[in-house]
Amino acid sequence: MTIPQHIAIIMDGNGRWAKQRGLPRTAGHKKGAETLKKILKYAREKGVSVVTLFAFSSENWNRPKEEVDTLMDLFRSYLKNDVQALIKQGIRISFIGNRQKFASDIKEQMDKIEAETKNLTAFHVVLALSYGARDDIVLAVQKITERVQQGILLPADITGKMISDSLSTAGIVEPDLVIRTSGEERISNFLLWELAYAELYFTPVYWPDFNELEFDKALASYQKRQRRFGGLDPVK
Ligand code: FPP
Repeated sequence: MTIPQHIAIIMDGNGRWAKQRGLPRTAGHKKGAETLKKILKYAREKGVSVVTLFAFSSENWNRPKEEVDTLMDLFRSYLKNDVQALIKQGIRISFIGNRQKFASDIKEQMDKIEAETKNLTAFHVVLALSYGARDDIVLAVQKITERVQQGILLPADITGKMISDSLSTAGIVEPDLVIRTSGEERISNFLLWELAYAELYFTPVYWPDFNELEFDKALASYQKRQRRFGGLDPVK
């Protein structure tokens, strides 16, 4: 059975999961962090090579301070404890998004973890934090047009590969499958360029309730798809 090499996940529905139980939204995020650990372990066991997780969008800074603070504490604890356990297993961790906006201790941790794990190959976890795909594309365009301005590059010589190589996901294989939980069926400014040929899977299950069985359902759905990448014949 074909296993997607790269799965990108929009972990949505933490707030509604909590509301349903009469709990504060932050309780949903805490439970969501547990789901994240479980799913990463399972994806690796299944033979997936890369998982990208949308953990905090560039717009999420606009949420109430208490919620943002709780999420920052969750990230801190995740980077300090869980990520260290992943590193011991030979797992590479990368971050995409605008890390300038984070408190300096979080930013330093991110830089350190990324540098420390850049040559690890057992599995690759990409955390999208303060991420927005349009911002990422704008930065890529700025990098490329600088070369045009310097006279090194002609506009007509700009290629799709140059754009891919200028994004924060440069060098990472494009996602084969996107999973979005919670019933919302949209991409919400996640990996807009990279998802060009990805298969999309939406489930009504809220992220804190997502589990191995639900992951298997997403894989089964993926395995039924015929990927043609714009051509006529299915690509295996
Ligand atoms: C979307 O649900 C989820 C988020 C904005 C945060 C995702 C964060 C986690 C799963 C916590 C752990 C992450 C790490 C990296 C440790 P929502 O709050 O938008 O839910 P709602 O749409 O039901 O309100």
